[in-house]
Amino acid sequence: MKNLFDSMEIKNLKLKNRAIRSATNERAFCSEKGELTPQLIELYKELIEGDVGTLITSFANVLESDQPAQYMLGIYNEQLIESYKPIIDIANDNNCKMILQIVYGGSQTSYNVNNRIILGPSSVENLSSKVIPKEATIEELNEIKNAFVQGALRAKKAGFHGVQIHGAHGYFLSQFMNPYYNRREDNYGGSLENRARIILEIYQDIRKAVGEEYFVSIKLNCEDFMENGSTFSDNLYLAKELSNVGIDLIEISGGSGSSYKDQGVIRAIKSIEEESYFYEQGKLIAKEIKAPVSLVGGHKRYEKIDNILNDSKIEFISISRALVSEPDLINRWKIDKTPSRCISCNKCFFRGKRCTLLPKIKAL
Ligand SMILES: Cc1cc2nc3c(=O)[nH]c(=O)nc-3n(C[C@H](O)[C@H](O)[C@H](O)COP(=O)(O)O)c2cc1C
Repeated sequence: MKNLFDSMEIKNLKLKNRAIRSATNERAFCSEKGELTPQLIELYKELIEGDVGTLITSFANVLESDQPAQYMLGIYNEQLIESYKPIIDIANDNNCKMILQIVYGGSQTSYNVNNRIILGPSSVENLSSKVIPKEATIEELNEIKNAFVQGALRAKKAGFHGVQIHGAHGYFLSQFMNPYYNRREDNYGGSLENRARIILEIYQDIRKAVGEEYFVSIKLNCEDFMENGSTFSDNLYLAKELSNVGIDLIEISGGSGSSYKDQGVIRAIKSIEEESYFYEQGKLIAKEIKAPVSLVGGHKRYEKIDNILNDSKIEFISISRALVSEPDLINRWKIDKTPSRCISCNKCFFRGKRCTLLPKIKAL
């Protein structure tokens, strides 16, 4: 029988349980430049002491010129490395593994959109933000690829136990998989093999730079849930390819700001049936690939998580909102297995708002 509290090993990384805090942008708790603040350190400390085995940070931009959100983390230069050290120390003291999520955002942004060049696979207006990106040239793609590599190397230098490439949710990399946003006619567009190419190249370039032993993972959509978006079989192909070239973990999510109504990333949950909403897709992917899979999206009930672990090859459970609401949820579930109190109001998704049920930490 599998259990959320089983200790796990991925290569030489020893994880104290199967619980992962999924990347969550704690809006307004970073400096403008993307450094950690005392408030964010406090927030991460609560999560770490709440016993998540693995904590994936908020997305951190790998290029200074690309900033999908204000007050997000950054890993775009060497000066930022120092700012992460206090939190790595706290994680090490508590046997929690810290993973930095690295991102190039692209057109799914409403932040500072008139003062910077925003790149996309093609020059197609973003359905949610209305931003029209510039189609990235091959030279610009190489610059982005190199920025991901440098971001991963900096994460390693800072003491992170690994990185997660943000390949999901309608940001730049996931747009390559999406035929609506990717209209390219070169080696990076058209066929499925071409649409998947940049993601595989970035993974392989990072792997070469950080070495075989370092933990490198990715977050992927199972489907985009929009007209002419990437399909389940597209993403299954990508997951298989990444698994074959040695990715250490794939976190399965889905949707974006461009998805059909109520079929996005962060869904309202009105019934038990609506919880764990990417389970069917995650289960199929986990069955087909060697790499371990973590499933994210709408987990709030211990018994349901237990069933997922035991009825599928899914190895890890990733949680965002329920941990925003109850940072000590994993500890609490050891003695009290009642569901998370999160009501999926999604107010935590708006800048500066922590869970409305928690005491306020003053935002910047
Ligand atoms: C406030 C907030 C910020 C988020 N920021 C990120 C992020 O930086 N990167 C990311 O991949 N997903 C982000 N997400 C999505 C979550 O990681 C997760 O995929 C989604 O919320 C569904 O899981 P849940 O039902 O456990 O919340 C964010 C979600 C919330 C609520």
